[in-house]
Amino acid sequence: MSGDMLDFEIISNPAPVSAAERAALLVDPGFGRVFTDHMVTIRYAEGKGWYDARISARAPIPMDPASAVLHYAQEIFEGLKAYRVGDGAVTMFRPAANAARFASSARRMAMPELPPELFVESLRRLVEIDQEWIPEGDGGSLYLRPFMIASEAFLGVRPAREYLYVVIASPAGSYFSGGVRPVTVWVSPDYTRAAPGGTGAAKCGGNYAASLVAQAEAIEAGCDQVVFLDAVERRYVDELGGMNVFFVYDDDTLVTPPLSGTILPGITRDALLTLAAEAGHQVEERPVSFADWRADAASGRLREAFACGTAAVITPIGGVRFPGGDFLVGGGQPGPVTTALQQRLVDIQRGRAADPHGWVSRVL
Ligand code: PLP
Ligand code: COI
Repeated sequence: MSGDMLDFEIISNPAPVSAAERAALLVDPGFGRVFTDHMVTIRYAEGKGWYDARISARAPIPMDPASAVLHYAQEIFEGLKAYRVGDGAVTMFRPAANAARFASSARRMAMPELPPELFVESLRRLVEIDQEWIPEGDGGSLYLRPFMIASEAFLGVRPAREYLYVVIASPAGSYFSGGVRPVTVWVSPDYTRAAPGGTGAAKCGGNYAASLVAQAEAIEAGCDQVVFLDAVERRYVDELGGMNVFFVYDDDTLVTPPLSGTILPGITRDALLTLAAEAGHQVEERPVSFADWRADAASGRLREAFACGTAAVITPIGGVRFPGGDFLVGGGQPGPVTTALQQRLVDIQRGRAADPHGWVSRVL
């Protein structure tokens, strides 16, 4: 172990959920509603570094009402999944990439970086103690949610000097209600998510707070997710509220918006760029305008579109709505390229296919 590793104190939950109740909760967990028995906490203080790593019963966090996070939103998070694979082993998908993105988000939000090996070990420890909570079967996984908050009680506006890192875990099925089905997206006319120089590439809670009114508008318009256009010209597609986006054209090209600093560098996006190229597709990271999206869907040049992310995996985009109109992509049905990539990714994630890129990390 490196010098960055801490010893974890383990205080088992004295009153865990019963096996029968857990089994009932795991039948149809949905997304983000059911939680396991334990959590990880690690503290940080300036001048002292990271200390007091522990695993204990999942419980409310006592907080001073002056805690900086409650006022100035110094908060970052991550999301990744643990899977029960064929032989009873448990794996995670690319945890080192989440560790790196967590560190990068920390830098952007003027927070201390958690050493990557401590990040990965904290996940491993939680999965180990709560392994009974990993759903069996194809769609299920244990969604891990590491996050960090500024815990110093101080109202001056400057980076806090004390932080709390926490990991909770939530058994998950499909992100969208109704299971895996093509979704409809709403192109927000009024709201943008991130401007150049802003926090769009960081996974900070504030980005999601700012997206909620647009997401609510999407739901009101009968859609599943909001699509944000770029904040400067309001022309180019950035990403969805919680997912990256890909377009599939009739010349076998896959296109996704570039990492320009305003979108989240998705780990699923990154994996799909590799898998699509391996499958013989031409892949391009370049801006796509909403006008072209619409025109190419109408002409048939655009065959498929899909959203991708940890929670959503790969979800076909069947319909697009905007003020005053709507259109279908690929007749509203999942297309063959989307379906094949989804299958390929999930086969690797679930240990049904070889893992040539070393993305699958065995935990247990
Ligand atoms: N974009 C946003 C805004 C997200 O919240 C997410 C989800 O984490 C993604 C993209 C996809 O990222 P990843 O594939 O790393 O889960
Ligand atoms: C994820 O896919 O992990 C996300 O963070 C998306 C959303 C649940 C915030």
